[in-house]
Amino acid sequence: MTRSPSPYLVPGFYDRALAQGRHRDIVGGRWEETGRLQLALLQAHGLQPHHRLLDIGAGALRLGCKAVPYLAPGHYHATDASRALMLRGREAELPDPDRLPEGQLVEDAAFAFPGLPAHVDYLIAWGVFTHLPPEQTAQALARIAARWPAPRVILFTVFLAAEGQTGPVRQPDGVVTHPDRPPWHITESALHAMAEAAGLAPIRQPDRLPRGQALFRA
Ligand SMILES: C[S@@+](CC[C@H](N)C(=O)[O-])C[C@H]1O[C@@H](n2cnc3c(N)ncnc32)[C@H](O)[C@@H]1O
Repeated sequence: MTRSPSPYLVPGFYDRALAQGRHRDIVGGRWEETGRLQLALLQAHGLQPHHRLLDIGAGALRLGCKAVPYLAPGHYHATDASRALMLRGREAELPDPDRLPEGQLVEDAAFAFPGLPAHVDYLIAWGVFTHLPPEQTAQALARIAARWPAPRVILFTVFLAAEGQTGPVRQPDGVVTHPDRPPWHITESALHAMAEAAGLAPIRQPDRLPRGQALFRA
């Protein structure tokens, strides 16, 4: 049997999961804890209500359902490979869906960012690059950097592996990650090389994150 490069690419994955009411599971569960943590980290890095936030690979709006009430109306934007997943999150999880116009939820699996504003202050990609092969992560970072030059803050998560590690890695929370299939890990030097090629200077943050992900700020 050939393995799909990502569970999200399995044909019919989103339709089946949404039909079963599993929009929270699709993004990995730990709903309250992870949404609250994402907003708290953004605030710790300076996010304020007047800022404009882009949530890349936003899923069912685990962060959005906390960020939309916090931000000024219209200041939250999101992309994901599945717009249906974001729309389900908007309808099921937002205290007041009218604060988030549907047009701000953009289907985009190629990091092309169609129809998004020319300026955003904060970008976050949480648990997204962990599902992508390194070439695609490199491309995503390059496209983000080209589309939204500084000043802006980018937070993203990856799974890290020690330099020279060639096989699977058991991460601090027990998740097993791989160099050649999802969930993907990457060495810190490889990450720096791809980010720097994109013109970004990523700095690893000390926070301990769910599932053993590492947080970077660029
Ligand atoms: C682990 S979930 C995290 C979702 C969200 N960031 C959160 O923290 O709740 C990964 C998300 O990445 C999305 N995704 C996977 N591949 C993608 C791609 N190529 N472009 C955009 N989104 C993608 C999936 O649809 C899923 O919603």
